[in-house]
Amino acid sequence: MEKFLIEGGRKLNGEVSVCKAKNCVLALLAASVLTDEKVVIRDCPKIADVVSMINILESIGVKTQWIGGDIHIDSSNITDHEIPEKYAKEIRSSIFLVGSILGRIKHAKSVFPGGCEIGLRPIDLHLKGLKDLNVNVMEEGGFIYFDGKNARGNNIHLDFPSVGATENIMMAAVLANGVTVLTNAAKEPEIVALADFLQVMGAKIGGAGSSSIIIEGVKKLRGAVFTPIPDRIAAGTFLLAGAITGGEVCVKNCCPKHMSALISKIDGVAGDITSNRNEIYIKGYKKHKSIKMIETQPYPGFPTDLQAQITALECVSDGASIVIENMFETRFKHVTELLKMGADIVVRDRAAFIRGVKKLHGAQVSASDLRAGAALVLAGIKAEGLTEVSNVKQIDRGYYNFEERLQALGASIKRVDN
Ligand code: EPZ
Repeated sequence: MEKFLIEGGRKLNGEVSVCKAKNCVLALLAASVLTDEKVVIRDCPKIADVVSMINILESIGVKTQWIGGDIHIDSSNITDHEIPEKYAKEIRSSIFLVGSILGRIKHAKSVFPGGCEIGLRPIDLHLKGLKDLNVNVMEEGGFIYFDGKNARGNNIHLDFPSVGATENIMMAAVLANGVTVLTNAAKEPEIVALADFLQVMGAKIGGAGSSSIIIEGVKKLRGAVFTPIPDRIAAGTFLLAGAITGGEVCVKNCCPKHMSALISKIDGVAGDITSNRNEIYIKGYKKHKSIKMIETQPYPGFPTDLQAQITALECVSDGASIVIENMFETRFKHVTELLKMGADIVVRDRAAFIRGVKKLHGAQVSASDLRAGAALVLAGIKAEGLTEVSNVKQIDRGYYNFEERLQALGASIKRVDN
């Protein structure tokens, strides 16, 4: 088990470039199964979740090859329809593969997916949506069997704008007979990117990015070469690193228009922000006013994947803030660790009540999930003294060369064996 050793108390200054979005690449990898022609996904980060997804593809007969940062995918010879339990338990996005395997070979088998320790992570919306497409879904012995030979388009309404359920239904519908209208769909940029990819493959799909997506099934999809969108969560994490240390950080190769919720919270409160089409720059304040209220919502609301990181920022504000986590039941596990560093936080159900302290001190803490881990790194960079963040394999799931990028900004952080 590896850990990060962080000597805190330094301002971060300089430039950092973000990778393509983990949650976009995972959906594109799943969708690549929908065609028997070659697919190339450009400029992918070699992070653990991407490697896990590739392992799942390989286990069903898909041939993949990294050439530089590009993943070359050949799904012409799918040999199995079952998502192996050991991989499915590793990552949540394994469940997206059901929709694409169903679209391509009309039957699939899976276990209930794993993922982060941030909540119950049910898949009822996925299963209901697939049933609405006339897919026969049977659960037996801990496995779920899907029969999609009679799948056909339908009007589907999601009780909640679930990102994964939206992606799963999109992928199951693009090759189903007839028209599907999906309402209360998720509007995340990753949904738009998936729709763009499917269109390049020849799908007939419109409305992605709005709450109503319309899909007209086609007979076959062709191969494609596609570049994923930048990682808005990684970009936000580095922006918050500049804010929490009062430094000057420029985040490059990002998409500021995907980051409006974060920018509107911190601009003029924790730092001064300027941006152009693909860069965002923050000049952090030495001591910042509290943001007061942060509430996570589906896009374009404040992203749950930046909740832990902005909670760390508010631990050193000059006032009090409330953070409400509406998306997941247990996404405050970073609070226990922040308290070890001298933070003043009380959690009641979905709300964290934070009172800013003059300073945090180093401690031995552990990453419960990738975003909590990133938050603890930010807190460690701010804190006085030495912080040890263990279980960094969680961080490696979603951040490529995290410590190298932070070192380039002036952080004293190194990876050691436990
Ligand atoms: C995606 O997860 C992301 N993961 C998550 O990122 C992200 O936090 C989440 O969307 C919300 O933006 C990937 O894209 C691989 P949801 P997903 O379905 O699809 C409930 C990260 O850190 N729900 O939008 O699993 C669910 O319990 C990860 O990069 C149901 O009730 O999220 C949650 O409360 C963490 N039934 C809410 O919807 C279902 O069938 C949002 O979940 C599905 C979801």
